[in-house]
Amino acid sequence: MNPRISVGVLGATGAVGQKFVKLLENHPWFEVTAVAASERSAGRSYEEVVAWKQTSPIPPGTRKLEVRPCTPDLDCHVVFSGLDASVAGPIEEDFARAGYVVLSNSKNHRLDPDVPLVIPELNHDHLALIPIQRKNRNAKGYIVTNSNCSTMFLAMALGPLHREFGVEMVFVTTMQAISGAGYPGVPSLDILGNVIPYIGGEEEKMEIETRKILGRFTGTQIDLAPFPVSAQCNRVPVEDGHTESVSVKFAKKAGLQEIAEVLRTFAGPPQELRLPSAPEKPIVVMDGQDRPQPRFDVNHSGGMATLVGRLRRCSILDCKFTVLGHNTVRGAAGASILNAELLKAQGYLE
Ligand SMILES: NC(=O)c1ccc[n+]([C@@H]2O[C@H](COP(=O)([O-])OP(=O)(O)OC[C@H]3O[C@@H](n4cnc5c(N)ncnc54)[C@H](OP(=O)(O)O)[C@@H]3O)[C@@H](O)[C@H]2O)c1
Repeated sequence: MNPRISVGVLGATGAVGQKFVKLLENHPWFEVTAVAASERSAGRSYEEVVAWKQTSPIPPGTRKLEVRPCTPDLDCHVVFSGLDASVAGPIEEDFARAGYVVLSNSKNHRLDPDVPLVIPELNHDHLALIPIQRKNRNAKGYIVTNSNCSTMFLAMALGPLHREFGVEMVFVTTMQAISGAGYPGVPSLDILGNVIPYIGGEEEKMEIETRKILGRFTGTQIDLAPFPVSAQCNRVPVEDGHTESVSVKFAKKAGLQEIAEVLRTFAGPPQELRLPSAPEKPIVVMDGQDRPQPRFDVNHSGGMATLVGRLRRCSILDCKFTVLGHNTVRGAAGASILNAELLKAQGYLE
């Protein structure tokens, strides 16, 4: 008997889908038994259709799998979705209705009132929406989402500070990697030697998703966290790693050392439960005056940590700092996998 849980990857040929396949190789709890993508790819082997862009070879167990269309007849119980947002909505619903557990990276269901938008270190209690969702939708399965990639690192840094000092307002400016646009993504002539001060929908996602994640589960719904977030998002010529400049105002007075200590000592259920993909420290505070930098720091803790540096006073709000995270690992596939591990640890995959 195979002790590992069979999982499928929807959108397995894309940037996020490939990261799922890579990160799930040799996973102690999950085994990829199905890969699915568009009709363009279906019917051929994974290695034949995928434009593999990872630095390690395609895992042998996945290479020869036949790519299937995204219909809910895959040989698995759990599916990770890296589907393009233009198609993810109804496909993920079909899978959940048919009894699959769907871990989604796409924006489509993140703000549905009965769908948990989860970062396990911050709001694992929002998983209590699962029975409500099943009942609302008369579905055997369910959908759990992780945040937009830039939101992930902002929320991770703000979460412990909000708990301790009460966040009152936030300004954030991002410098986002090209891999965040998928493959082939932004044309090289548009991005080389350039900065594009627009990423469609990204600012709105950061402004609302952060508030849902840091919101309060009332027993029936999530009340959004009450503070405003103002986001400005830029695409920059960096391969992997979103950098964010953040300024925050708190309700309670907080010293810089105190803030650093709260970030440095923060841990949540993934660390307590020793989940296989959990970083030892979810937030790593860097002391170097010019860190974090994507080139040197993006792969810290296997790309699962949020790096914070340049903590200092803000002359308008209370404090400001720089945040960095790996957009396709902790900002996408790694986040979904950690969510699945939490679901398993809490008995939601039975
Ligand atoms: N890249 C990031 O850093 C990042 C971070 C967080 C969240 N996300 C989100 O994750 C999702 C995937 O992003 P990505 O960057 O991996 O995109 P991508 O590289 O463009 O991949 C899209 C995937 O969707 C599949 N697909 C497209 N049309 C389809 C259809 N009609 N039916 C079934 N499958 C279809 C593609 O299959 P084919 O190869 O067969 O066309 C491919 O596997 C998006 O919703 C994105 O917003 C991305």
